[in-house]
This record gives sequence, structure tokens and C-alpha cells, in this order.
Amino acid sequence: MDRRTLLTGATAALAIGAMSSCATTKRSQTADLPAALPSAAPPREPGKTTPSLRAAAAARGRYFGTAVQAASLSDRATRAALTRDSASLTPEWAMKWDAIAPVQGQYAFGEMDRIADFAGQNGLALRGHTLLWHKSVPGWAASLIARTREWTHVDGHIEKVMTRYGNRVREWDVVNEPIEPNDGNGGLRNNQFMRAFGPDYIEWAFWSAHKFAPNARKLINEYGLEYGSAYEGQRRLALLRLLEKLRSRNVPIDAVGLQAHLDLRKGALDRNGIYGLVRDIGGMGLKVVITELDVAEASTTLPLEQRDRLVADETRRYLDIVLEFRSVIGVNTWGLNDDYSWLRSQRGRANRGLPYDANWQAKPMHEAIRRAFA
Ligand code: G3I
Repeated sequence: MDRRTLLTGATAALAIGAMSSCATTKRSQTADLPAALPSAAPPREPGKTTPSLRAAAAARGRYFGTAVQAASLSDRATRAALTRDSASLTPEWAMKWDAIAPVQGQYAFGEMDRIADFAGQNGLALRGHTLLWHKSVPGWAASLIARTREWTHVDGHIEKVMTRYGNRVREWDVVNEPIEPNDGNGGLRNNQFMRAFGPDYIEWAFWSAHKFAPNARKLINEYGLEYGSAYEGQRRLALLRLLEKLRSRNVPIDAVGLQAHLDLRKGALDRNGIYGLVRDIGGMGLKVVITELDVAEASTTLPLEQRDRLVADETRRYLDIVLEFRSVIGVNTWGLNDDYSWLRSQRGRANRGLPYDANWQAKPMHEAIRRAFA
């Protein structure tokens, strides 16, 4: 696909996105009162009869995985759910630069080792999340990079992580969230790396990663690409432009991670925008992985059944669009159980945006994912 066609597609997606955002009726913002967590019945293991998401995905030649926090591995029900439903684990925090090297020269691999060992003992793949992310650079490294502008400090971090876990990690989120249209750098975020090294930091990161893991799948991982606002349309276009540049320079990138943090407060999904994005990524010969699927609710005060139905329907709508493409090789949720969801800390209250509730009861979202694979 030549550049003109590629960008025409994305530009069209941008335009359609902008129009549909005007047509979208905003969901009413009810004044959310802190909703009491469902009664804390003793955690139960997922019902033995609950169909496995891992099996449902594998039956269609794809994989299903999820993010995990090391501490949750102490919980028997969590371990049972992970081995039943998931073929791959993503460390939600433990592999990030600020997690493994909070102090210069001192490494804290304990939590990541625990996740890697659990994955190895249970035949689960690992996702490497994430090598470079503007939100997880420890203070000492940010200062060193800003002062010296020497890539060796970044390359050294990448080497440290990849040589320790390299042969156990199938996919690496090499650069996380490099897009920010509002920063005026041709759509790229003005992060620590951009300020120290310029826009080429992205391809340098991929060449560094390729040096240490030539056979692993290497990705850019990005959010804010699902809805019809002009801003999300700009994000889609900026991502495609970046990918086109990297491909034109034969940078060793293999796939794109679409985080898919869905959000019921954002109005309707932009079907044309999502479809055009996945189509154009595939047109560059790149695979797609859905990397952090969850759903932020618009209201947590509706009846539970209605809340779960809204979450499940949004999940199914999104997956029905992206799973039309064989280039979409995997779907990962950002956790399995609402109790561990990052959205709780974001919303200050329970959010029912993952496949299982706090008592490991499979919710309609679980069935929505399973049926989307069928
Ligand atoms: O700081 C403590 C540390 O001292 C302790 O040892 C550790 C025990 O697990 O917990 C640490 O607490 C927090 C950690 O989550 C717990 O897992 C960190 O302070 C907190 O910053 C961290 O937040 C994570 C966040 O990324 C920042 O790394 C969230 O769990 C995680 O859900 C979120 O995930 C991001 C993706 O990486 C990228 N896409 C967006 C997504 C949501 O923001």
C-alpha cells in the first residue's frame, strides 16, 4: 500500500471519526456515588464449568492473555484462573524501569522473577512490558539521560532486562505510548527520550531490542485509538505516520499493541476509525495485539446486571471489529478480576470492567470475549 493510499485511509478515518463524534449522543453523566463493593463473600475459584478463554482463542488460531501483579500469585483462585483462561502473562508493573531499578545500580527483579517463574512452571508465555515508557523512568535515569544524552544508558537498561528474561518473552512492548498529537512534534510525545535524543529514539530502541532478542516479536503499544473524537482520530493518524516511517527505514518492528482501554464515558466506538487503523497496520505487514483490554464504566450506581451488560456489549462491539482481521493475533485483558483492576485506583471505586468479579464469578464480559473468538 503506497503512502498516499495509506494516509488517505487514515485521513478518511480521521474525518469520519470527527463527524461521528458530532453524531454521538453523550451518555448521561449521572452523579456517581461511591458504590459499595459487592459483599466480600469468600473468594471462589472460577467455576469449573466456566469455559476457558484460552481454549476459545486457541480454537481460532489466536491467543488470550492477561496482565498480572506479582502479589496476586499468592492467591489460589488467581493462580487457578490464570492457568485456566490465559496463555500469556503481562507484568502489570514488575518489569518497568522504575520497578526493577528504583535506585541506580540496584536491581529489584524479585517480583518479575516470581511472575516469570509462575509462567514457566505453567507453560504460559510472557509479554515484556515495557522497555521504554515516559511514566516509568526512575528519577536517577531521567536525570542521567537529560544530562548526558548518551544512548548507552538506555541501551544498558534494555540489555539488563532482555538478557535476564529474553528467552522466556515472546512479545516485547519496546516503546509504550510515544504518540501525543498535542505536543506538536509531528504527533510524537515530548517525553524524556524525545528531549534527549530526538524522534529517532524510537527506532534506536527497536534496534537495541533487536540486538538482544532478534527472534521475539517487538511492538509499539498505544492507547486512545477507539473513539470518534477528533483527538482520537489524530492519534490514529499520528500512529500510522510513525509506523509508516519506521517501516520505510526497515526498523525491526513486528506488531502494534492496541491497548483498548475502552471507556463508556467517551460515547460510541468509532467503527470506521478502528477498522481503518487495523486494516492500514496490516497493510504495512504488521501484526496487531490487543494488549490491555478493559472497560471504564460511565456510572457505577446502576444495577449490577445493567452495568455488566453495558461492559459486555462494548467489549463485544470492539472485538467484533478487530477480530475481523487475521492480523490480530492475540487479545489480552488488563487483569482478570475487578478487585485487582487499575481502574479502581483511577475511579476511587469499584469498576466492573474485567471478565470476573471480585468473587471470581464470570460476568457477561467473559462470555462476550469467548463468543467474539467463536
Ligand atoms: O510502588 C509500589 C511498590 O513499592 C510495591 O513493591 C509494588 C508491589 O506490587 O506496588 C507498587 O505500587 C504500584 C503498582 O502499580 C502496583 O502494581 C505503583 O506505585 C503504581 O505506580 C503501579 O501502577 C501501575 C501503572 O501502570 C504505573 O506503572 C498500574 O498498576 C498499571 O495498571 C498501569 O498500567 C498502564 C500500562 O503499563 C500502560 N498502559 C496504561 C496502563 C494503565 O495506566
